[in-house]
Amino acid sequence: MTARPRRSCLYMPGANAKALEKAKTLPADVLLLDLEDSVAPEAKEAARDQVAAAVKAGGYGKREVIVRVNALATPWGREDIAAAGAAYPNGILAPKVESGAEARELDKAMTDAGFSDEAALWVMIETPRAILNLADIAAAAKGTRLSVFVMGLNDLAKETRARAGANRAAFFAPMSLAVIAARSEGIIVIDGVYNDIADSAGFEAECRQGLEFGFDGKTLIHPSQIDTCNAIFAPTDEEVARARAVIAAFALPENAGKGVIKVDGKMTELLHLEQAKQVVAVMEAIESLSA
Ligand code: COA
Ligand code: MG
Repeated sequence: MTARPRRSCLYMPGANAKALEKAKTLPADVLLLDLEDSVAPEAKEAARDQVAAAVKAGGYGKREVIVRVNALATPWGREDIAAAGAAYPNGILAPKVESGAEARELDKAMTDAGFSDEAALWVMIETPRAILNLADIAAAAKGTRLSVFVMGLNDLAKETRARAGANRAAFFAPMSLAVIAARSEGIIVIDGVYNDIADSAGFEAECRQGLEFGFDGKTLIHPSQIDTCNAIFAPTDEEVARARAVIAAFALPENAGKGVIKVDGKMTELLHLEQAKQVVAVMEAIESLSA
């Protein structure tokens, strides 16, 4: 089982040289080098060159490096993908994807740009049409590089006119549907950002809520959000201990071929064994980051 940790995915404006440099020292699992929303139109080309140069120069260690490109429908999208392809990041994040056909077109653009088959295509889920087409988008994971969904809840708020308060009730349906669609095709799914950088209690509560919805991690906008996010999206010591106990119990000779057993008094089925293996794989992946 391959499990790469995607607990903390930190955005930074591609036009901000200081942030690109600082990222080399930050404990984020993923760096999202942005050429889209956080870069003004007149700065797009300089940001593209700066991000390509930074990715080529490296120094990001085991952090996964993903370039957020502009949409193919904009004047910059295709060149962003070409420039990224020549710099060998781990993949790209494409905004405002609304159909499986668009995901396949992006995958083809990646091939044309020289990306390897191992490179990943991440897509933003951030428009009403994307929510309605989630199953179609998820199905495009078959035979393409599509492997991660990222919620774009600031854009979704703008498009829907929803007023999502502190508990995000207005987004429960889209968040849950995105998780379900992602899981139907084995896709990783990352929660949206928390804009109020100074509100650490609100941020922590939103991380926990995202975890409860099933997200694998959260997108972040500031270094101060990383540690809390990493802690909340990592399996707890109790979860890891329980997972190891479940794996050990099913491995006992007397349990060979059984579909259901009792572990520490709890009914435990083969589906729990699969969950346990996932927990251990995630933990090992997290440990391998500091190895
Ligand atoms: N990534 C990397 N470094 C960051 C960072 C980020 N997202 N946000 C801030 N930093 C760095 C700053 O450069 C500064 O570095 P220094 O200590 O070496 O001087 C330090 O962290 C503290 O920054 P701070 O002064 O608190 O914030 P700021 O006023 O410089 O920046 C924002 C505030 C919101 C402009 C900035 O955090 C940001 O650009 N976030 C990401 C926005 C984005 O990418 N949006 C698109 C997706 S929603
Ligand atoms: Mg956006």
